[in-house]
Amino acid sequence: MPATVVVGTQWGDEGKGKLTDLLAKDMRLVVRYQGGHNAGHTIVVGGESFALQLVPSGVLYPHTTPVIGNGVVVDPAVLVAECDALEARGVDTSRLVVSGNAHLIMPYHYEIDRATERSLGRNKLGTTKRGIGPAYADKAARVGLRVQDLLDPKIFRQKLEVVLREKNAVLAKVFNRLALDEEEIARLYLDDLAPRVAPMIGDTVGLVHEALDAGESVMLEGAQATFLDLDHGTYPYVTSSNPTAGGACVGSGVGPRDIDRVVGIAKAYVTRVGSGPFPTELGGEAADLLVERGHEYGTNTGRRRRPGWLDLVMLRHAVRVNTVSEIALTKLDVLSALDSVKVCVAYESDGERITRMPYHQSVLHRVTPVYEELPGWGGDLSSATAVSDLPREARDYVECIAEHAGAPVRLVGVGPGREQFVRFAA
Ligand code: IMP
Repeated sequence: MPATVVVGTQWGDEGKGKLTDLLAKDMRLVVRYQGGHNAGHTIVVGGESFALQLVPSGVLYPHTTPVIGNGVVVDPAVLVAECDALEARGVDTSRLVVSGNAHLIMPYHYEIDRATERSLGRNKLGTTKRGIGPAYADKAARVGLRVQDLLDPKIFRQKLEVVLREKNAVLAKVFNRLALDEEEIARLYLDDLAPRVAPMIGDTVGLVHEALDAGESVMLEGAQATFLDLDHGTYPYVTSSNPTAGGACVGSGVGPRDIDRVVGIAKAYVTRVGSGPFPTELGGEAADLLVERGHEYGTNTGRRRRPGWLDLVMLRHAVRVNTVSEIALTKLDVLSALDSVKVCVAYESDGERITRMPYHQSVLHRVTPVYEELPGWGGDLSSATAVSDLPREARDYVECIAEHAGAPVRLVGVGPGREQFVRFAA
């Protein structure tokens, strides 16, 4: 059975955690393919809230094997702490398998992330300061340490010695920071963390292909989203990996022909954390209302997210770039308080109407959104379980999105709970 990819279509925080959790119910394998603990997934099960950072959502189902793929960057201390916290709440994490090819986030990656942001001043990217960018930079520069290096202390130490010499020089001479101690890092990673992580390391590519060959269901779970993609996002205000569906192949070791379903997650409005262009950004009361009703604060960092109206130019682009086969729309209930709802159907720039994502980003910075205003629906959607339970205006909103985006909407989220979804027929 071919694999399913789940990908964010905006700037992250679309509710992918809840969606992957819902879809994981029917999956044998759930594979994270990029990012690290910059992601934060909140899943509410039976009124209990689980905040996951690194561990794939499938961990909550006993029939699912959660996999951390080669494309992920792993802080082993975070991984161990997250597993311990889940175990303490009765969740079995013993099925988790981590790729040996995944790269390690090291203490100097945090230092460099923080120091770089500080030195950028008002041009900072607004990263999560989790060392993600510096870890991927080392991977590309071929000086990264990998999860499998935890299994071989000699190699670990050799690599650490070489790379730390350079990192400490940069920290001291460029950023005026204190040098990090090689022995301390080696002790933490090799003595404390390696014995905990070693049993989790396995042949993740082999596992995925065995499952596909046996006709079992596999889900490839993206973190962050299309417009935070290193290649397709609003560079440089992006993360350092490829959340787009193409990244799912590289980050998990499957080929494009192994995938036949791409679920694009879109929130019923848009949010973004950190810096960067955002044509439909809202201010004032409307912004406060979306932030408060939607609880738009970072799962990890607690940062207030920037809210805005749904941008269908972006969504259309995300549908193309990821070959989205169906859209899952989340948080429709948050818009219930509004008398009317706006969607951006095009941009205007220098008197010209643009319906495609501009290829020159300076244009995106200065466009004016062209809105269509739709009537609101009032009332509470949270108990809706069928399409017929939704007010007509809410259904019209969903249909308008599908039409402009060029992909059908199959699932609509109406509340934070695991079951608070309405399914639209194929
Ligand atoms: P980094 O991934 O920490 O390097 O941050 C780069 C950009 O991606 C910043 O604008 C972050 O706010 C954003 N970002 C990273 N992870 C997430 C996420 O899970 N949700 C939303 N934004 C994110």
